[in-house]
Amino acid sequence: MEKKSFYVTTPIYYPSAQLHIGHTLTTTMADTLARYKKMRGYDVYFLTGSDEHGQKIEKVAAEKGMKPIEYTDGIVKTFKNLWSKMHIDYDDFIRTTEKRHYDTVQALFQKIYDQGDIYKGEYEGYYCTSCESFFTQFQLAEGHCPDCGKAVDIVKEESYFFKMSKYGDRLLEYIESHPHFIQPESRRNEMISFIKMGLEDLSVSRTTFDWGIPITMDRGHIIYVWFDALTNYITALDYLDDGPLYEQFWKNNDEIVHLVGKDIIRFHTIIWPIILMAAGIKLPTTVFGHGWLLSGGGKMSKSVGNVVDPLVLIDKYGADSLRYFLLREMPSGSDYYYSEDALVSRINMDLANDYGNLLSRTISMIDKYFSGNIPLVKDGFDEDLVTLSQEVTNSYQKHMDKFELSLALQAVFKLVGKGNKLIEESAPWTLYKEGNMERLSVVLYQLVEIIRMSTIMLSPVLVETGEKVMTQLGVDKEYFTYDKLAFGSLDQSFKVAKGTPLFPRIEIEVEEKPKKAQKEEKKKDIKTKEKQNEDNLISIDDFAKCKFKVGKVLEAEKVEGTEKLMKLSVKVGTDEIRTVVAGIAQYYLPQDLIGKKVIVVYNLKPAKLRGIESHGMLLAAKGENDLKLLTVDGDLEEGAEVS
Ligand code: MSP
Repeated sequence: MEKKSFYVTTPIYYPSAQLHIGHTLTTTMADTLARYKKMRGYDVYFLTGSDEHGQKIEKVAAEKGMKPIEYTDGIVKTFKNLWSKMHIDYDDFIRTTEKRHYDTVQALFQKIYDQGDIYKGEYEGYYCTSCESFFTQFQLAEGHCPDCGKAVDIVKEESYFFKMSKYGDRLLEYIESHPHFIQPESRRNEMISFIKMGLEDLSVSRTTFDWGIPITMDRGHIIYVWFDALTNYITALDYLDDGPLYEQFWKNNDEIVHLVGKDIIRFHTIIWPIILMAAGIKLPTTVFGHGWLLSGGGKMSKSVGNVVDPLVLIDKYGADSLRYFLLREMPSGSDYYYSEDALVSRINMDLANDYGNLLSRTISMIDKYFSGNIPLVKDGFDEDLVTLSQEVTNSYQKHMDKFELSLALQAVFKLVGKGNKLIEESAPWTLYKEGNMERLSVVLYQLVEIIRMSTIMLSPVLVETGEKVMTQLGVDKEYFTYDKLAFGSLDQSFKVAKGTPLFPRIEIEVEEKPKKAQKEEKKKDIKTKEKQNEDNLISIDDFAKCKFKVGKVLEAEKVEGTEKLMKLSVKVGTDEIRTVVAGIAQYYLPQDLIGKKVIVVYNLKPAKLRGIESHGMLLAAKGENDLKLLTVDGDLEEGAEVS
């Protein structure tokens, strides 16, 4: 049977600054999907690169007294270094400054011009230097750039225009008849409404800077950055010469996937498809727009000064741990607040306590009870385990195919959790004492199968760990392929080789405040309370300072090592998911909270509880022996304000 193909791309990053963990997230997603598809037997092509033209880069280079290309050469090296440390296994790295790209962009531009879809006119409008985007007055957000919120300049100049307006209806039809084109669903609806407002022709050239690709027939004009940048996806496949890569990964391919952040989804789902339509090229299958990684102050950016450097985290925790954290924590399509504590707690909980421990406990027991030889068993398996393993593999596959990587990983950890539970419930040490070697063999074989299957499913994410597990289990590589992802596939015995822990537990340093400072704080607290008691009525203005929103609980888990605390992921808007730590663990089970509508104090300052940053608080009423969360009477969407 002919192999299926999969083409996955990341945005090409601006070399105006060093990359941060937001960029690392997209690239890790792409790498993981590429590895997953390879494991499923696809021919895969994975492209990343750098978007090097434009006024901004020209300016940064000039400030450093360098030619733009000297400057970008240096930055591109840092991109490649980061990707190598993250084990990003791309097939090609495209730079928009390469000759192959100039040739492709110029040819594409000329083709569209020749057929009459590009014309010369005069541009008058608003330009955001930061985003390198033009806007109409209607598109501005309160007079500012709708993407970054910064001030825009009014500009007027001669420009070439691309007849986007002509293609609006065709694009709408395409989006409506291809439900998978824009993912996730919420982004699709946004884009549909945007197109329905009417598309305007797009200015696609500039005369005010030089650093870019000139129009062949009118060299005073530089091709507008997005026309230049988006074309990279076909330059790299050798569209210009209709080469074999283009043939296989574009023309005859049913899975062309662009992964992008939500801020650039509009360029990818409106401008890019229209360029392709105009040039008679087929459209990509999916544009997946993920949310942002936020840190104190919102979206990470150099100017806000809140960027998190992935290299520091790789050195501290290892690439596999960072890869896992990013993909596990980032909810499909929504934003996520980053904190290092959340990273540490995720590594400890899942990788050290659950997965790593399961391996080391299993190996120790095989060592002790069977002199290191994995007992080979063919029947007598626990039915619920066999069923669960099937459910987990189905769910893993379903979510990976929909790019819902966090949900896929959650599914795998259900199986890992089942393994640890099996140890507790079957108490192998007692079975051994009782001489029940038959059941003991079944238990240990089952544990090996759980580890083997989980390792296969985790291998696109934990790219260094798989080898280590294979070595420690002593099981041959051939049992770690996707076609062996069925419970009971291990049909040969192997000898385990105990090794070092896969993920040593990271100790969280809790800052102890000096005694004097603690006393001072207490005094201050008492004083404030006294003041409040004197005057315990509040005005409507005091009350108006509090912002409450309806939230929906998506995930809940007990905070390790505490009785009372529960860590929750709460959706408080279409695009916003928050981590909230609440003292409700004695009153609710995690599973009973999932899906519950709650009331979140929305504008509370973040606070750290047991090392986890909590963004908000849940309202609850406390009775003598019980506590109940406040909720809404009937169904109301997340993000609705409470007043
Ligand atoms: N050069 C353009 C893309 C052209 S693609 C044909 C660009 N570059 S960028 O470097 O500014 O951003 C690249 C990607 O990084 C975008 O998808 C953007 O959403 C993503 N991210 C930047 N900051 C981010 C976070 N804080 N979190 C997640 N992704 C973020 O746009």
